[in-house]
Amino acid sequence: MDDIRAGVETMRLHGTMAINGKGHLTVGGCDTVDLAENFGTPLYIMDEAYIREVCGQYRETYIEPYPGNEVLYAAKAFLTMAMVRVVAQEGLGLDVVSGGELYTALQAGFDPARICFHGNNKSREEIYAGVRANVGRIMVDNPAELDTLESVCAELGQTVSAVPRITPNVAAHTHEYVQTGQLDSKFGQAIATGQAMDLIQKIIQSKHVRLKGVHCHIGSQIFEIEAFRLAVQNMVAFVSEVREKTGVALEELNLGGGFGIYYTEGDDPQPIQSFARSIMDAVRQETGKYGLPVPRVVIEPGRSIVGAAGITLYRVGDVKVIPDVRVYVAVDGGMTDNPRYALYQAKYEAALANRMNDPLTVTASIAGKCCESGDMVARDVQLPGVAPGDLLTVFSTGAYNYSMSSNYNRLPKPAVVLVNGGKADIIVKRETPEDIIRNDVVPDRLR
Ligand SMILES: Cc1ncc(COP(=O)(O)O)c(C=O)c1O
Repeated sequence: MDDIRAGVETMRLHGTMAINGKGHLTVGGCDTVDLAENFGTPLYIMDEAYIREVCGQYRETYIEPYPGNEVLYAAKAFLTMAMVRVVAQEGLGLDVVSGGELYTALQAGFDPARICFHGNNKSREEIYAGVRANVGRIMVDNPAELDTLESVCAELGQTVSAVPRITPNVAAHTHEYVQTGQLDSKFGQAIATGQAMDLIQKIIQSKHVRLKGVHCHIGSQIFEIEAFRLAVQNMVAFVSEVREKTGVALEELNLGGGFGIYYTEGDDPQPIQSFARSIMDAVRQETGKYGLPVPRVVIEPGRSIVGAAGITLYRVGDVKVIPDVRVYVAVDGGMTDNPRYALYQAKYEAALANRMNDPLTVTASIAGKCCESGDMVARDVQLPGVAPGDLLTVFSTGAYNYSMSSNYNRLPKPAVVLVNGGKADIIVKRETPEDIIRNDVVPDRLR
């Protein structure tokens, strides 16, 4: 696993994946056919060695050569208490975006000083929980949030370190829904409109909130290093303007996450090393231009740490052939465990995990079991002649699948299994019908 790119190498087998003598897909030394039998389907499988390998590459490229820099794992991509432990053991910090993610991290024993608390509309309760827990940074999205933060700090008699979210006016070439750095965005305050400077000044004047730096996040699933260079350029120019206008020299530049991974042919992720080198070179060059000290650089990768480390296993039900139109392969999950196709027509590769060596003879589309025509998992994938009972695997489902899953149609969420060295451990139990009705209440008048 030495040239890990921010995703898979050249084809669908990556990380610890292999094909065993029975023609079955194995991950982390575990036969996926056995995993399906032991844990049921649909099943999320996470490759622990691969996650740790990518974490190691982030450490080696961003932190070790530049002490002071920090890599925060973006919890929104995939978070469970076991994942929190892996992140802690790998020496990364954590970016959380809600009270729920914060709670998970704290319950799993994560050091609050290494947590940054994001969100574009954090509630007072969430801000209270963050301040109370002494998180390392609160990311301030807007002036209303700053007011709430000030009042919570006053109530608790605490001060906090804050970093405002800035919109740097960079439009990365990615799907509209995962672009966030352009002017027309719900996130942060724009440099272009002067609102970013207003927020900075408001923080400087506040009593309990200490301004530490600035943050931006330009989007997700980005392949172009150029987009990050542009973000650095715009953000450093802004940092210089802040110094001119306020006399405050900012010590921290957080550039967010967004590093793309391989899902299907045409995706061309850059090696993590290349991103690191280009970003750090750009930071040095741009700060040099303005005579600014080199700040500590923080990044927040999510997808690139867990995306390619995950697969989903499904059992095939019906195979419907519409002559000259399409072959639909129906599986026992769908948009409930993977809403990314329904959200933005995300593309995936798939294979039959129980027949990995069979010739690919069919072009099929993978349909979920929900009552929505848009409930598809993948379109036009190449499979062997597929039949009911086969085990279908979809690759690179580690990010934004489990974390975005739902109970639509009252489907229970699948289990998550962490595999490593031939061992498979449940890290999230499969939901049961009892879980589905757990919070339902029938008022007396309806009894
Ligand atoms: C502020 C912030 N940081 C980091 C990330 C992680 O992005 P990715 O998973 O693409 O690396 C996101 C994702 O939307 C984000 O909004």
